[in-house]
Amino acid sequence: MFLIQDKKDLSSSDFIKIKDILSGKYVNKEVKLRGWIYRKREQKQIIFIILRDSSGIIQLACKGIKDAEKATIESSIQVSGIVKEDQRAPGGYEIEVKDLKIIGLAERFPITKDQSEEFLRDMRHLWIRSQKLTTIFKIRSELFKAIRKFYDERGFYEIQSPIFTKLGCEGGSTLFEVKYGDKKGVYLSQSWQLYAEAMIYSLERIFTLAPSFRAEKSRTRRHLSEYWHHEMEAAWITHDQLMEFEEDLIIYIVKHMLKHCKDELIELGRDLKELEKIKKPFLKITYKEAIEILGKQYGHDLTDKDERELLEKIGKGPIFITSFPREMKAFYMKKDPKDPKTVLASDLLLPGVGEVTGGSERISDLDELKESLKIFKLKKEDYKWYIDLRKYGSVPHSGFGLGIERLLMWLTCVDHIMDAIPFPRTIDRVYP
Ligand code: 4AD
Repeated sequence: MFLIQDKKDLSSSDFIKIKDILSGKYVNKEVKLRGWIYRKREQKQIIFIILRDSSGIIQLACKGIKDAEKATIESSIQVSGIVKEDQRAPGGYEIEVKDLKIIGLAERFPITKDQSEEFLRDMRHLWIRSQKLTTIFKIRSELFKAIRKFYDERGFYEIQSPIFTKLGCEGGSTLFEVKYGDKKGVYLSQSWQLYAEAMIYSLERIFTLAPSFRAEKSRTRRHLSEYWHHEMEAAWITHDQLMEFEEDLIIYIVKHMLKHCKDELIELGRDLKELEKIKKPFLKITYKEAIEILGKQYGHDLTDKDERELLEKIGKGPIFITSFPREMKAFYMKKDPKDPKTVLASDLLLPGVGEVTGGSERISDLDELKESLKIFKLKKEDYKWYIDLRKYGSVPHSGFGLGIERLLMWLTCVDHIMDAIPFPRTIDRVYP
């Protein structure tokens, strides 16, 4: 089963989890449970309550139990009773309640059926109790676990970079400026990358899981202004090796999820066959080939819609787009020696979502970096420490960044990125 293994409750060993009852080991035994009232149905002699806790839901049959009448939807309760097998009950088990105690009586719950998305987002602090979001966030938790396990097995170090920074990494237009005492030009980090490039000189192979910030003007179903960013950086690896590494990571995550969250994925309606089929190498096409397929001019920046169209036209699996024109990408990317108008960079597109990772080999040569800063109209003085890295034992290196919520959208098939993070932040929303 999933996540909470047979660990004892921290505050009391008397209470058991619903999933343990559903596993069948408590039939005809007396148990104590606690949780929240998910649904309630009253008949003449009997009140049926569906109780939920973090591990699942179970039916309570309450006959002559006084507090069962008073208990409202979302009240927190504590019950004891006998476990009975009952095929009519959800999950196949029911509790014949002997005692029920209300811990926190709920006022009339504001969320009922058929409410607008906007209303539910205003009520996010309560809506996160829904079965759908609970399942998504269990998968999210497992995703972090899978990523850490992957890197641990490969001997990487997990390391962090500052959130307050003076350096733009991914272009000025999406930088969030913050008030920082009397200092000007302090921003929230768009990426750990520039600092990661300094840290590989000692740790060599590193990764992080951290928030990144983008003052996105785009109101799309895959843009947040605060998202969780998994990034990796490694010395001595080329762009080709980087793409293979990304393939290994995605396949590892998929296998981990199929092993540990199969029930949850099925519950969300995920087609597991698509996940089971994934194998390397992933399809790779150049930017030039991509725009030819789309019938666009060279120089056209691929939009969300273009990416979806590409995925539909050339296959349902993951696709790397490579060989982007230099000016379309970031200043730190290494020119392709075979075609210097393009860079050694790639975006990985996943079906239904589009771009989920962006990676590249970095410029390791001092003169190439200075030239690139000039082309991108960035001031040398601002990047002084970053330039230094090319002066003291420079080394070929590569890395990528992956949007956790976008990967989760693909894994769980949720339509909107806002449902892949507990409290979404977009250009229009910072509440609740
Ligand atoms: O392609 P991006 O901008 O690349 C970087 O930040 C590099 N410095 C990463 C690196 O090489 N270390 O962002 C990487 C990924 C994207 O592919 C996307 O999945 C996600 O971050 N991302 C966003 N996710 C949600 N909302 C946004 N506004 C995002 N912007 C980027």
